[in-house]
Amino acid sequence: MNRLVKAAFLVGTLATLTAAAPAWAQFAKPEAAVEYRQSAFTLIGNHMGRIKAQLDGGKTSLDAIRSSAALIDALKTLPFEAFVEGSGDVADSAAKPEIWTEREKFDKRAKEMQEKVTLLNAAARTGDLVAIRTAFGDTGKACKNCHEDYKKKK
Ligand code: HEC
Repeated sequence: MNRLVKAAFLVGTLATLTAAAPAWAQFAKPEAAVEYRQSAFTLIGNHMGRIKAQLDGGKTSLDAIRSSAALIDALKTLPFEAFVEGSGDVADSAAKPEIWTEREKFDKRAKEMQEKVTLLNAAARTGDLVAIRTAFGDTGKACKNCHEDYKKKK
């Protein structure tokens, strides 16, 4: 085979492999998917806490709120890439099995949260504290909305 034919063959094989790979293949094993989503949620939760501390404290730093809001905005889709098939029954996970039987509803909850986070980040940029408080409250509600249905209480 000449080099070009070989290269074309290789690309073809790779494309087939990618198409045939199951969704969880981006993670080495289901445990890795659980760890990934929990890590992303931990960061999001940590920065929600930091914003709350700023809103509750006497001296409010807009810079701190802005940097946390921007981070949450950047992270907001990440956990949901890791709710892959077959990762529902990992012992260490608090994900309820209904996530995989009511996927549309779960995805809708995720989208609602992401929309609120977009608004929170926009409010943080304007620096309007009233708008930030409202958007922060709405975001928190959107988190809770999903947790009530789809996260096991530990
Ligand atoms: C669409 C559903 C959904 C939304 C929206 C959601 N979560 Fe979660 N969250 C989950 C599920 C399910 C788990 C359990 C994941 C697991 O253990 O596999 C979880 C776990 C967590 C954890 C625990 C992570 C760990 O280390 O075990 C934190 C913290 C968290 N979420 C924070 C948040 C915050 C803050 C928001 C809102 C900004 C949010 N979540 C929005 C479904 C959601």
